[in-house]
Amino acid sequence: MKRDFLEVTDLSTEELTAILDLAERPSWPRPLENKGAALLFEKPSARTRNSTEVAVIQLGGHPVTLRGEEVGIDTRETAEDLARTLSCYHAVIAARVFDHGRLQRLAAAASVPVVNLLSDGSHPCQALADVLTLRQHFDSLDGRVVAYVGDYNNVTRSLEQAAALLGMEVRVATPEGYGPGGAAADAVKDADAVYTDVWTSMGQEAEAAARRQAFADYTVDEDLMALASPDAVFLHCLPAHRGEEVTTAVLEGPQSLVWRQAENRMHAMRGLLLFLLDGAT
Ligand code: CP
Ligand code: NVA
Repeated sequence: MKRDFLEVTDLSTEELTAILDLAERPSWPRPLENKGAALLFEKPSARTRNSTEVAVIQLGGHPVTLRGEEVGIDTRETAEDLARTLSCYHAVIAARVFDHGRLQRLAAAASVPVVNLLSDGSHPCQALADVLTLRQHFDSLDGRVVAYVGDYNNVTRSLEQAAALLGMEVRVATPEGYGPGGAAADAVKDADAVYTDVWTSMGQEAEAAARRQAFADYTVDEDLMALASPDAVFLHCLPAHRGEEVTTAVLEGPQSLVWRQAENRMHAMRGLLLFLLDGAT
C-alpha cells in the first residue's frame, strides 16, 4: 500500500517520531537511485522547492519541477490523468496547490506516494521541520507551549497537528475574524516558543491592505517576546515580511531559530521520503 502525506494527521505519534529520527540520520540509503520525483508548483516557492529537490538528489533521485501552468491541471488535462501519467515515470509526486481538494484527487489517482507541499488547508512538510527544530533545541517536547500569533492559516493548522502528536500545546492569538481571536500577550505569556507567519498568504493578495490594518496589534516584537519564557525561541516558516508580522530585531535576534528551521526543511523532507518510500515497497 502506498502512503501519501497530505496532512500531519496521516501519521501516528510513532511514525512522526520515526520521520524526525530519519531526518537526523547522518547518512542514508539511496532509494531513489535511477528514479524521478515530480514536484508540481501552482504557487511560488523558495524553501520548499529547493529543499525538496536537494533531498531527492541526496536519496539518489532526479527531481523534475513543474509549474502549474505548464501542465494545466484541469485545463490541459484532468488532475487524475496527470497523476496517472506522472506515476509512470516517478517514484513520488509532490505538489503545492491552491485547492486542497486537487491534492486529494491527485493522491487518489496516483499509484505512487503523493506529498502535500502546501495547500490552502495545510503545510505539513513545514510542520515536520518546525517540530524537528524544536526537538533539536529542547531536551524534551512534552508539555512545551508554542504561542502562534497572527493569521490562523495552513501553517498554523499543521503546526497544531504536529504539536498535538508530540504532547505540546499551541496557544493561538489572532484578530477577530481571522481565527479564534485572543490577545497576542495572553498567548505568548511564559511560552517556550513564539511562532508567526505572514498576514497575507499566497492567493490572498487582494486582501493585503485590509489584513495589514486588522493585524496591526499582532506584530511579534521584542516587547512581546519579553513576555515569553526567558529561554523562549522564535520560529517563522518564511518568507517573512519585516515590520509586519515580525520586527527585524526579533527575526535576526538571539532567540530566532528561523535559519535552522529553514535548513531543517531539507532534513525533514529527506526523512519523510525515506519513510514513505520504505512504506511504498
Ligand atoms: N516555508 C515555505 O514553504 O517557504 P517557500 O514558500 O519559499 O517554499
Ligand atoms: N501561509 C503562507 C505560508 C508560506 C510558506 C502561505 O500560504 O502563503
